[in-house]
Amino acid sequence: MAERTLIIIKPDAVQRHLAGEIISRLERKGAKIIAAKFIHVNKQLARRLYDVHKDKSFFAELVEFITSGPVMAMVWEADEIIATARKMIGRTFGYEARPGTIRGDFGCSARYNLVHASDSAASAEFEIALFFTPSELTTYDLPDQKWLWGPDQ
Ligand code: CMP
Repeated sequence: MAERTLIIIKPDAVQRHLAGEIISRLERKGAKIIAAKFIHVNKQLARRLYDVHKDKSFFAELVEFITSGPVMAMVWEADEIIATARKMIGRTFGYEARPGTIRGDFGCSARYNLVHASDSAASAEFEIALFFTPSELTTYDLPDQKWLWGPDQ
């Protein structure tokens, strides 16, 4: 069953010219991009995105960082994409993330960690609705779909 997830290429990744690399990894994995927008997140949207962290000591820093420059917010779709994207991105802090993951290959910071991805189906639904209206989510087939997902799809 195809899932959807919100992936955000954070301000540090945009500034470090890594947007294409991150999109390319998800594309090559076989996931399908169904929506994207390049925006400067305002404080209100940032606080809503990080609402689950509002009582944490690092909440203000999170809001400051995600609003510090433009980001690429995207919705990706594939079977099991929520867990798959989190695995591809790697552990939260770049210095702990395994080589082969996005953070493991490109990051060494705790705070500047390049990418956000929804951590559950409930978060994905909530976060996608923060950034996109239902009509902005496209529907289309990939010509190589059967080769990506096998005969049962
Ligand atoms: P992300 O998973 O995109 O969204 C939540 C963010 O909180 C996470 O990235 C980190 O940037 C940040 N975060 C999580 N845990 C900590 C922590 N212990 N200290 C500082 N920042 C954290």
